[in-house]
Amino acid sequence: MKQVLAVGLALLPALSLKVPSSLLDEGEGECFSHSCGKGYIPKFDHDTRRGDSDVQCCQPTCELYTCSGNFVANEAYKGNIGRTNEQCCDQTCSAVKCPEGKKVPADLKKSPGKTEKECCKDTCNDFLCKPFTVPIGANQHEVYPDGEAQSFCCEPTCQAYTCDVAKNLTLDPAKATLTKVSDETCCTPTCGSVTCPAGFKIHPSKVNMDAKKTDCCEPLCSSHTCSAGWVADVTKVAAVGNTDEVCCQRTCEVFQCSSGWAKNSVAAKNIGVDDPTCCLPECSQYQPKCEGDYAPNPDANKTVGQTADVCCKKTCSLYACSDGSINIPDAKSVVASTNGECCEDARCPTFRKKTEVKDGCNHLGKDECENNYMKLKNTATNKTDSLACKWADFGFCQVNALEPANCAE
Ligand SMILES: *[C@@H]1O[C@H](CO)[C@@H](O)[C@H](O)[C@H]1NC(C)=O
Ligand SMILES: *[C@@H]1O[C@H](CO)[C@@H](O)[C@H](O)[C@H]1NC(C)=O
Ligand SMILES: *[C@@H]1O[C@H](CO)[C@@H](O)[C@H](O)[C@H]1NC(C)=O
Repeated sequence: MKQVLAVGLALLPALSLKVPSSLLDEGEGECFSHSCGKGYIPKFDHDTRRGDSDVQCCQPTCELYTCSGNFVANEAYKGNIGRTNEQCCDQTCSAVKCPEGKKVPADLKKSPGKTEKECCKDTCNDFLCKPFTVPIGANQHEVYPDGEAQSFCCEPTCQAYTCDVAKNLTLDPAKATLTKVSDETCCTPTCGSVTCPAGFKIHPSKVNMDAKKTDCCEPLCSSHTCSAGWVADVTKVAAVGNTDEVCCQRTCEVFQCSSGWAKNSVAAKNIGVDDPTCCLPECSQYQPKCEGDYAPNPDANKTVGQTADVCCKKTCSLYACSDGSINIPDAKSVVASTNGECCEDARCPTFRKKTEVKDGCNHLGKDECENNYMKLKNTATNKTDSLACKWADFGFCQVNALEPANCAE
């Protein structure tokens, strides 16, 4: 208020008052000889004015003006004549109205500026926080520093926090969305921190699991009793487990023999998980070896045994023919054990070297007679007899009807 009055007083005479010359004579001095002080410049009629002070002879410049309210000084206006904010100052951003979501930041409030573009900056309000971070409520309407929106506007949630398993901690899912992250805020103890009672142990796969949601301690084999047919496995005493499969060894008693094997009751107490240890081979395994004098015997497949006598059928080659008869030529391919099926007349091999004649022996000469034979139906036995041609004493070749021989075909 004072300043404004002073300005009025100083300017009035300069602008509008015509000073009567009589006054000049009565003045205390000539402005002509007065040099304006700092911040003043000579009035337009300085040289002819009476006076000897800045107030009388000079007019103040903006240099002497103190900007107020939403205005700040600007060096460039220093030499201007003026005594108002509008003449001597720049408006500051604090007077600018920003649109929704924008705001004049504190450091611009005292800076010159008139437009939205100059003065208004984005606030956290419209910023989208990255995953696992959430807006900081207190900063929601604050302007964020250039390029630091994420760190200024958002804070991490527990989901972005790493609970250290080495400290027996893991993320508590119930706290995943909490902020002010720390071990205390975000984490819950793991099984690693649990002490199990005697006979129990933490399963290695559970060490890093949430202790509140996991049965951390599991029984050791040392407290498991093996079922019948199983014996404790001494190497597993300290292992985690409570089943026969994990803690015990199977004896033959509970072993299931494979096809081709029969249970061996003698081996019942043996520890074993294979057929040779617990079972006896059945003849089905031996069948391929039933050859030569033997033939396969499928009926014996289920019989326990590993010898030809037990597992195979005998062929005629093993049959002892009665006197005067011998095994038929293909005895090994005939499964039988009777004289009739397995044997033929001992003379048959000789017969097979002879030539069969269809029309009797009588026409043959002495030289060739005994190289031939005949086949004749035997009405007594209903079999075909092979009858040799024989040179008779009385000088011709005849069928030797006294020596019939049944030979295999
Ligand atoms: C984690 O638990 C284990 C076993 O209970 C313990 O030996 C270890 O000292 C614990 N670690 C910390 C950091 O507490
Ligand atoms: C008997 O065992 C043999 C050899 O294993 C097999 O080829 C055959 O089919 C079996 N026969 C029967 C009737 O089981
Ligand atoms: C021989 O066979 C005939 C007809 O084929 C038959 O009638 C006769 O009874 C049989 N004789 C003998 C001893 O088998």
